Amino acid sequence: MRQLIIAGNWKLNAPEIKDYVSKLSAAPDGVRIVIFPPFTYISEMARYPEVIERQNKMKIEVGAQDVSERDSGAYTGEVSAAMLRAAGAGYALIGHSERRRYHGETDGAVQRKVKRALDAGLRPMICVGETESERAGGETLRVISAQITAALDGLSPEEISLVAAAYEPVWAIGTGVSASPIDAQNACRAVRGAIGARFGAVSAELPVLYGGSMNSANAAELLAQLDIDGGLIGSASLDAPQFCEIIKIAAELAASEES
Ligand code: PGA
Repeated sequence: MRQLIIAGNWKLNAPEIKDYVSKLSAAPDGVRIVIFPPFTYISEMARYPEVIERQNKMKIEVGAQDVSERDSGAYTGEVSAAMLRAAGAGYALIGHSERRRYHGETDGAVQRKVKRALDAGLRPMICVGETESERAGGETLRVISAQITAALDGLSPEEISLVAAAYEPVWAIGTGVSASPIDAQNACRAVRGAIGARFGAVSAELPVLYGGSMNSANAAELLAQLDIDGGLIGSASLDAPQFCEIIKIAAELAASEES
């Protein structure tokens, strides 16, 4: 049975946490839920009883939206993987296109962050995706394969088994225009294929999520695709009822695949 992951990326936004957590705690079982709030909310969120209870059952986890590529030192504004782990984070989002675009994050930096996260006990969720012009130039599969291969460089098979990937076409993020289910499926399959080419069979188990304007209206079709193991959701995750609705869709899908 596929383990679906529904992840919420709050970016530079924060709903009222107590209210959000209480609504989320009513979401159905059967889906792994990860919330990526801004750094300062991680420890508060990780300590709510609803989250702790769910975390123990491996259902709700809290993650960081970024992680430093350094462990310590004179790096003003940075937060290390070990600090995030100590605050209660279980995951780290790495290489989001907004980090790549606005903060000049290169494939090399992404690779170093992935390694730091793993060394500190965080599961990396690595984002890859093509821009509008790369898509227009027919370069989607080449770009995303190169990004994921670079991000995983030097990892052991054991480390790879702790990684999740998210295909997020840059043109679909925050635009209200998601990739079509078939295009998203083909891209997620390509991400898995690139991992398989380098690391072999472990790629079959590795969660590959789709992100980019996923919402309660398009989630069912996207999540039904064979190589899409969940969603990384930005704006629709800020609305707890809508986010719960997407979790419900995923839970029903997982249950129907099992039967
Ligand atoms: P969106 O963001 O759902 O608002 O498009 C997704 C993301 O950037 O992770």
